[in-house]
Amino acid sequence: MMNRLVAPSFLSADFGNLNKDIEMVNTSQADWFHLDIMDGVFVPNISFGFPVISQVKKMAKKPLDVHLMIVEPDRYLEKFKEAGADILTVHYEVCTHLHRTLSQIRALGMKSGVSINPHTSVELLADILEEADLVLIMSVNPGFGGQKFIKNSIQRIARLKEMITQKGCKTLIEVDGGVDTSNAATLYNAGADILVAGNAIFKAENPAKAIDLIKGV
Ligand code: DX5
Ligand code: ZN
Repeated sequence: MMNRLVAPSFLSADFGNLNKDIEMVNTSQADWFHLDIMDGVFVPNISFGFPVISQVKKMAKKPLDVHLMIVEPDRYLEKFKEAGADILTVHYEVCTHLHRTLSQIRALGMKSGVSINPHTSVELLADILEEADLVLIMSVNPGFGGQKFIKNSIQRIARLKEMITQKGCKTLIEVDGGVDTSNAATLYNAGADILVAGNAIFKAENPAKAIDLIKGV
């Protein structure tokens, strides 16, 4: 049975009324809270940090999926755990000792994730899949919500799925960027287990309904 999970990205949420959007996710068919952390160095944007994560954690009834778009993530792994991260994803492009980083994330009691930018080959992950509970394929260049989906991401998902199956790993595939109701089914069929969506959910007239449509329920 294939997974069809949805993780709404709070980058597109209403920060003036966060409680309302947290409650919407709690009562919807969504599975995880996706929180994007940007440092203005790895990506050309700055988002939010520990106080916001802790605030979401207080109300959230579902796991927090924290996506770090920051350099030197090793300096903060423990702090993200304390703030409430259940799944912690770092970028391949900034981790010199990725094996160590992923092992530490697991040792802290979180699920480990590794993300790759659109230019990073999925094949580079072959020797690290066993340490990763999930691989996050960026289907836009990270930094902003509301960007256009990069089409060759579909082939990248399929290639990664094949690698995971061949190795017999349990690693999940998450896809992030430009996901909406029009491409969701194609992405799940290509091998995605979790779809992240920001604009397609929070800018929709009926966010809970948008989640259902992405999920195909
Ligand atoms: C982009 C972030 C995404 C972003 C997705 O750098 O990692 O999670 O919020 O937004 P949409 O779904 O609007 O492309
Ligand atoms: Zn993200």
